[in-house]
Amino acid sequence: MKRFSKLFVLALVLTLVVSMFAACGGGGSDEGEEAAGTVDIGIVLPTKDEPRWVQDETRFQEALASTDYSVEILFSQGSSAKEKENVDALIAKGIKTLIICPQDGAAAAAAVQAAKAEGINVISYDRLITDTDAVDYYVTFDSIAVGAAQGQYLIDNAKGAGEPLYLYAGAASDNNAFLFFEGAWTVLQPKIADGTFVIANSSEAEALKDKATLTRDEMSKIIGQVTTNWDFNEAKNKAESHLTAADDAMKGDVAILAPNDGTARAIADAFAADSAVTSYVVTGQDAEIASVQYIIDGKQSMTVFKDVRTLVKDSIDMAVSLLEGSTPATTGSYNNGAIDVKAKQTEVVVVDQSNVKAAMVDSGYYTAGEFTGL
Ligand code: BGC
Repeated sequence: MKRFSKLFVLALVLTLVVSMFAACGGGGSDEGEEAAGTVDIGIVLPTKDEPRWVQDETRFQEALASTDYSVEILFSQGSSAKEKENVDALIAKGIKTLIICPQDGAAAAAAVQAAKAEGINVISYDRLITDTDAVDYYVTFDSIAVGAAQGQYLIDNAKGAGEPLYLYAGAASDNNAFLFFEGAWTVLQPKIADGTFVIANSSEAEALKDKATLTRDEMSKIIGQVTTNWDFNEAKNKAESHLTAADDAMKGDVAILAPNDGTARAIADAFAADSAVTSYVVTGQDAEIASVQYIIDGKQSMTVFKDVRTLVKDSIDMAVSLLEGSTPATTGSYNNGAIDVKAKQTEVVVVDQSNVKAAMVDSGYYTAGEFTGL
């Protein structure tokens, strides 16, 4: 009897340990069962280190609470190798649809090709997976509009002629970085040409300043010089070294194109610390809680609010349509270098001090208690 209960306890402990390991697999949170053939939808997000993607995870969890399909969410922690492992793990669990936001748009091709080979439907989420025909659909915000809104905000708040303009961009491995930059350049270039702005920190942009439309190679040159790699530290270090290199004529009232909120806060902090900078206007995107607070405090000028709830809903609706054998609704397509990928696109909203409370709190997106000084 004693021996029996010891064995029983040992078996119980082993089962618990095994299930704990299974739950930790892939380093992400999960909503579904772990046995093969029981997860319907696999979701892979780039990193937990940026609030943007934690926001997406939360919104997925909220939206999925009411679905009968089982789902598992995994994070790639900034590594394409980890991303491939995550996709392989989900394939092994029998997923039928994969929703994936790639860490690196080109490197993710191998992962989705492996999924496609198993008959899994692939939905590229927010960032486009490039150079492969193994992507069925793309759900995204209007990323060119994001960049255009950032550029337009700098124009609308320019203080006069000859204002120094500091340009920053996202990671070159992210197709969105090109779309954001393209949108911004389209509106800013005429204002560089007419002398409203003077480029302060990019010789490549300076060399191309008379071109209204840039090729991808031309944008690559500029982005290569002013990339933040979506990394706060890299953004801060770059801004500090640009300020060290700039003479006082390139300071005073300045305009800063920052690609997203995380990098905007880092860059804004660097500019705020320079006594020769009288005032700065800095852009952002994502409406992260910390940046909404920066806007309330007057430390970040604007953000572009991308309502993640819509993106999440669109991708789940798409996944469910595919699981049920119907064709998802789309609004257009994006060429990924190999094929035109059918896409569902969502609009964006500009937020600054004038509408921050209405857009971010009164709308129910965040609660007032998350901020001070509203
Ligand atoms: C997303 C942005 C995000 C950035 C950095 C982009 O692809 O569209 O919302 O801030 O990646 O993670």
